[in-house]
Amino acid sequence: MEVITVSELARKMNLKASELIGKLMEMGMMVTINQQIDAETAEILASEYNCNVKIVSLYDETLIETEKDNDEDLRERPPIVTVMGHVDHGKTKLLDAIRSTNVVAGEFGGITQHIGAYKVKVRDHEVVFLDTPGHEAFTLMRARGAQITDIVILVVAANDGVMPQTIEAIHHAKEAKVPIIVAVNKVDLADANIDRVKQQLSEYDLIPEAWGGSTLFCEISALKKTGIDSLLETVLLQAELLELKANYTCRAEGKVIESKVDHGRGIVSTVIVQRGTLRVGDAFVAGVYPGKVRALFNDKGEKIDEAPPATPVEILGFTGIPDAGSPFQVTETERQARQVGAKRQELEKQGEAQNVKKITLDNLYDSI
Ligand code: GTP
Ligand code: MG
Repeated sequence: MEVITVSELARKMNLKASELIGKLMEMGMMVTINQQIDAETAEILASEYNCNVKIVSLYDETLIETEKDNDEDLRERPPIVTVMGHVDHGKTKLLDAIRSTNVVAGEFGGITQHIGAYKVKVRDHEVVFLDTPGHEAFTLMRARGAQITDIVILVVAANDGVMPQTIEAIHHAKEAKVPIIVAVNKVDLADANIDRVKQQLSEYDLIPEAWGGSTLFCEISALKKTGIDSLLETVLLQAELLELKANYTCRAEGKVIESKVDHGRGIVSTVIVQRGTLRVGDAFVAGVYPGKVRALFNDKGEKIDEAPPATPVEILGFTGIPDAGSPFQVTETERQARQVGAKRQELEKQGEAQNVKKITLDNLYDSI
């Protein structure tokens, strides 16, 4: 992890160290002049002064050159849509409704539950959905500003209204500059109060079009499966506006969503491929661990040979358990993967050896 002392950062920013220490205190962090802060904190701090911090990261510094995109390499890719919201507001139920809609259409079924990432066909378009609960990992990725999601569906139960995790989800989506589609759920309940939800969300700048705003609202019942088609139409519409494209031919890059040790199969990681096409046999480095793809499985648990952009895929072939949120990159050779992994492990150890204080986006919001 990249670090810098408060005094050095102050010097680079042409400010007094005491000024930065005061600012950090306002942000809920007590530091001394010689203390090191991590790069993310430095970046947040610098942005308070309209300064840009260039992070020479563990991950950039290490020998993997990103392949450039030529216009002709870019093709349309499916949107990645994350369902977020307060506990019990019906996120999983909504995904169930979406998937069973497709099961009814004879296209889907037998979906592996533990992945939490699904590719669904909506009319002629593929859409990737991520369910967030249990995906603490996902919050982490968001907080790091990783742009894995293109669209957020914010589920708010009409009987319960806006709750703390609703607000947290709004912050995360805004931080990542991701458009929000609001799904007001549980409209079948007698105590549903849709207007109250709209009113409450207006306070967070999510104002429905009918009220003169620009946020897309859908009224649904995940239980009764009403309003789902219209929500999916809205997702497609929003995706179209984003004109999402990716390079299908370069070496694959993505993000680790979750990792586990499976008794039969060893280390299994779910990765979202963001660009390039991942193939069996590819050498890679995931966070600090090198590896070679032994097998790939799609979200239905079926073995596949390759995974194009915007594909959630389970991968076998790791030498260690990569953290959720870690970058996943295919390398030119196995040797390169090993070298990069070793270098990152060394840098990580150095970082750990130092007493690094971290500020997360969550406690940052609290302190504003
Ligand atoms: P967490 O993953 O724990 O954050 O919850 P969740 O948002 O995924 O909620 P989940 O889908 O598990 O639904 C919670 C409860 O609300 C379940 O009992 C659902 O059956 C119920 N529920 C979900 N959608 C609706 C709906 O549209 N109407 C009604 N009446 N109940 C619903
Ligand atoms: Mg759930």
